[in-house]
Amino acid sequence: MDKLRITGGRTLHGEVTISGAKNAALPELCAALLTSEPVILNNVPRLRDVATMRQLLDNMGVQTQTHGDRGGITLQAADPIQAEAPYELVKTMRASVLVLGPLLARFGHARVSLPGGCAIGSRPVDQHIKGMQAMGAEIVVEHGYMVARLPVGKTRLHGARIATDMVTVTGTENFLMAAALAEGETLLENAAQEPEIGDLAEMLIAMGAKIEGHGTSRIHIQGVERLHGCTHQVVADRIETGTFLCAVAATGGDVVLRHGRADHLDAVIDKLRDAGAEIEAGKDAGGDFIRVRATGRMKAQSFRTTEYPGFPTDMQAQFMVLNCIAEGTSKVTETIFENRFMHVNELVRLGAHIQVDGKVAVVEGISRLSGATVMATDLRASASLVIAGLVAEGETIVDRIYHLDRGYDQMEEKLRGIGADIERVK
Ligand code: EPU
Repeated sequence: MDKLRITGGRTLHGEVTISGAKNAALPELCAALLTSEPVILNNVPRLRDVATMRQLLDNMGVQTQTHGDRGGITLQAADPIQAEAPYELVKTMRASVLVLGPLLARFGHARVSLPGGCAIGSRPVDQHIKGMQAMGAEIVVEHGYMVARLPVGKTRLHGARIATDMVTVTGTENFLMAAALAEGETLLENAAQEPEIGDLAEMLIAMGAKIEGHGTSRIHIQGVERLHGCTHQVVADRIETGTFLCAVAATGGDVVLRHGRADHLDAVIDKLRDAGAEIEAGKDAGGDFIRVRATGRMKAQSFRTTEYPGFPTDMQAQFMVLNCIAEGTSKVTETIFENRFMHVNELVRLGAHIQVDGKVAVVEGISRLSGATVMATDLRASASLVIAGLVAEGETIVDRIYHLDRGYDQMEEKLRGIGADIERVK
């Protein structure tokens, strides 16, 4: 199993190119199921989760092909399709549930494994099921699978008003894709507003869908009979961007993040500025960029994770590292997932002072961490341990980095490129 060996203490300088967003690319790969025509995605990040999604689509009979060196993938889902997502793939990646909406909408049936719990929480899919039922699908859960079909005599889902009990990102994405091909109008209330939803909606519109209100909590979709192919550029990964911002704020240095979208990270950037980092965002001939400069010790910042545009749960672990070595005591409250403090025990092994009580972690800033062997437990926890390794005195070994490979495109190469002492060991 691969590990990362990091020698801490270096400041970071130079430029990093931010990749396409994992959590936009995954639903967008699934959106190719909505049409028999070719769909071209560009700027798809090179990640294990993308490879898993591709394997899932390949298994169904979707033709997929990579092209160019800029993350191009062409997908074509001609009839017939094996409309099934098996447990072996779904258990490794919950986002597989994103095939449910498109399969039902285009083929009228789907058999998708229930994902089960995962490291960060129980993560049920009850809202996905309720929404599809509201659009007319009949769904039974048997042998661990959601078996969904249209009633006898029906060939399309129908539009519906769907108000979910909580804001759900992949739920909103499943409903968007299903409603795009449903008969009549769908109104999504309490919809997620994450930039990845907006990016998926733009892609669907380019395929001929009629969608309004994406980026707000009320989305209207007027279903159409068929969608066509399109070419779409995956939006920049705001969590990768935020992870690099935190890394530079923690280590000190001066780094430009090419393609980074500051407008998708307001909550994190505000906190980083309050902590003492200098952040400047703009556009030049190369497109969007963010420059981050940090000198001296940062000031600890309390925050609470919430849905977009609030502070993202996917940035909680990385920002907590900054608080571990900042001046002052901070309170970090996790409201989205019930078990997303698994990095805490590992950070404590590096010397951090953190006390967890339910949803709240109280972090007392200390002047330095000291290197040790730590174990990655999930994707964002892994990223936080890498940042901790960059600031810790001496050597840190991060074990089980397959989690990191699921969602960060060449993280250690990018960090090495800006001066980090980091290498992968087998
Ligand atoms: N929830 C339910 N029932 C449902 C759906 C959600 O109870 O049917 C609960 C969840 O258990 C959770 C909350 O609602 O407590 C929000 O979950 P959401 O559905 O929004 O999460 P998700 O769609 O499964 C996506 C991202 C996650 C990110 C969350 C929150 C993708 C592929 N995944 O998950 O990303 O943390 O939204 O922003 O988009 C990551 O990239 O590391 C990651 C975990």
